[in-house]
Amino acid sequence: MTELSKTGAAVGEPVKGPSDGSTAFLDVRDLKVHFPTDDGLVKSVDGLSFSLEKGKTLCIVGESGSGKSVTSLAVMGLHRLGARGKNVRMSGEIWLGGKELISAEPDEVRRLRGREMAMIFQDPLSAMHPYYTIGSQIVEAYRVHHDVNKKTARKRAIEMLDRVGIPEPGKRVDNYPHEFSGGMRQRAMIAMALVNNPELLIADEPTTALDVTVQAQILDLIRDLQKEFGSAVVLITHDLGVVAEIADDVLVMYGGRCVERGSVDDVFERPQHPYTWGLLGSMPRIDRETSERLIPVKGQPPSLINVPSGCAFHPRCPYADIPKGDVTRTVRPELQPVGSGHFSACHLSAEDRTRIWTEEIAPKL
Ligand SMILES: Nc1ncnc2c1ncn2[C@@H]1O[C@H](COP(=O)(O)OP(=O)(O)OP(=O)(O)O)[C@@H](O)[C@H]1O
Ligand code: SF4
Ligand SMILES: [Mg+2]
Repeated sequence: MTELSKTGAAVGEPVKGPSDGSTAFLDVRDLKVHFPTDDGLVKSVDGLSFSLEKGKTLCIVGESGSGKSVTSLAVMGLHRLGARGKNVRMSGEIWLGGKELISAEPDEVRRLRGREMAMIFQDPLSAMHPYYTIGSQIVEAYRVHHDVNKKTARKRAIEMLDRVGIPEPGKRVDNYPHEFSGGMRQRAMIAMALVNNPELLIADEPTTALDVTVQAQILDLIRDLQKEFGSAVVLITHDLGVVAEIADDVLVMYGGRCVERGSVDDVFERPQHPYTWGLLGSMPRIDRETSERLIPVKGQPPSLINVPSGCAFHPRCPYADIPKGDVTRTVRPELQPVGSGHFSACHLSAEDRTRIWTEEIAPKL
């Protein structure tokens, strides 16, 4: 019998992928996720593309409502679940290990979820059932994908709880979620997400609700586990300090689209988009007085129903009048290469971008 990888492709066979031959482990192409509502069509994600290799971490940043969680739920195939799922319109391509998920049968996506890809959320209680012990939930997650008896699965659950730093895992395995502290629940959820060694882990603000020390521990844990299993990690966070520390690549979202994407060095050292400049300007720095620290991006996030014409950022962009004519207000800027593996969607010329960054922005950061 042909040996199959987790995604079902025969081992040794070239991995199938998008028509241009890309073989990235996760390859998202022109993803659109729209929700028809009584107020109009909410374009939560509107033409997003990115790719990610195994063993790498992609951080997705952008202010509240920019489409980060909707993107991650789309990759996990979770929009199709439940009553609200009936109302979603999804298009584009999501390739995972050579399989396209948007056109895949729901059963197929369900099979991959948990085994091939797993997600951790901000609130562990949303992923855990209050009436079942932590252990029985990890056992269940394991047995869905592995034909083993309960005893073997329980051993695995204890091993995972130990791995994520739960003290006395042999005892704590029989606790209920409410008997764990917030940080421990987060660890238990990570144990549950990683019990099947998924090759893609999506973490949506996994530490926002935790205190700083526990935050650092959880991030170290994700990093260690990634090294151990060689998984691809997508981390969504508001904390640019975390991004600087943990990311290989960064994707900056604004109004359901990517405005800048590149390596962590590109985005932090040579950012090319005015919105990214604004985000970096609002990053707290220890070496600065509080009054000097925060330069928030002024103005409100865009409506996703009536997205501003042209560049969606134009109502808030201090440089909107620099590009000639009305282009910024009438023509939507597409992502263009601005360096090797570095893309930005802005009408400013390369000269203007370099001048503004080096003379006006960088000296203030
Ligand atoms: N089921 C839905 N129906 C209608 N609109 C939705 C639905 N789910 C999400 N949205 C809208 O899509 C937009 C993007 O939401 P999303 O949760 O992805 O934002 P986010 O970037 O994760 O923000 P935050 O940082 O606050 O978590 C929001 O305006 C949200 O209201
Ligand atoms: S296209 Fe115009 S409005 Fe948009 S970010 Fe660039 S300069 Fe600002
Ligand atoms: Mg979110």
